[in-house]
Amino acid sequence: DQDRTLRPRTLDEYIGQERVRENLRVLIQAARDRGEALDHVIFSGPPGLGKTTLAGIVANEMGAKMHTTSGPAIERAGDLAAILTNLEEGDVLFVDEIHRLNHQIEEILYPAMEDFFLDIVIGKGPAARSIRIDVPHFTLVGATTRTGLLTGPLRDRFGISYRLDYYTPAELAVIVTRSARILGADIDEQGAAEIASRSRGTPRLANRLLKRVRDYAQVKREGSITWEVAAEALEFFEIDAMGLDTMDVRILTALCETFRGRPVGLTTIASAVSEDPSTLEDVYEPYLLQCGLIVRTPQGRQATLAAFDHLGMEPPAR
Ligand code: ADE
Repeated sequence: DQDRTLRPRTLDEYIGQERVRENLRVLIQAARDRGEALDHVIFSGPPGLGKTTLAGIVANEMGAKMHTTSGPAIERAGDLAAILTNLEEGDVLFVDEIHRLNHQIEEILYPAMEDFFLDIVIGKGPAARSIRIDVPHFTLVGATTRTGLLTGPLRDRFGISYRLDYYTPAELAVIVTRSARILGADIDEQGAAEIASRSRGTPRLANRLLKRVRDYAQVKREGSITWEVAAEALEFFEIDAMGLDTMDVRILTALCETFRGRPVGLTTIASAVSEDPSTLEDVYEPYLLQCGLIVRTPQGRQATLAAFDHLGMEPPAR
């Protein structure tokens, strides 16, 4: 799995998210010096920005073992009890999509996070009784697209909370150059910059595009990734000049064409593009907002002139 080798393993290797990085460096050293587990951490932000990577780095820098699961994978109290009782002192438990934990499980998690014990009910009816199980001092690292999706009590139990932002093209170019070195691909500065500029501020996408451009360079050219080869390859794979994917383009087309640039409510857009409203809001909308292709008004989401321009459409006359 190449993704694994491309993922940085230490804070020093990690590029971008400067504030998060320098912050974590201090907190990790403090916990290590005291011989304690790190406080629970929540990472939020759109997919592909490094939440899983950072969880791995936290574990690695703490000298701890990482266990990985996700909100929807923990279906019963027993699943959670099995996971928690398998941990060792100081281990990291990474829970992806933690906002999708069911509420009963959340309630069991609270005392585990706060006081490191579980109250488990065994048996049914009159024979039911509750047993208390101690769990090791562990660090829960949660990932979610938006902290607003967590219930208040769960959010309050994380001592450390970071929001990840989109990467700048310059940061992505450094990531692409680093990944190319690991993959053994020959790339120049302009080639890396071209891939970076079409990666939607997202390292996962930058690495994916790098691999596709490398394939193209190997088969259609002499192997080296220059600006010219990168631009040609990205055109060949139909990657939009801004790196927008099909769903991004469908959303913009709906706003510009179907709704003729008028403000539209989230659920209306969602049904126009057959996507779930919360995915639209948490996954697609943040980048379109960041690029200034759409705006949020009190009446709903609206395409900007830049969106019409990007689609090569005339904006409607006022
Ligand atoms: N690969 C993916 N994300 C990265 C990052 N933030 N820094 C370095 N390499 C990466």
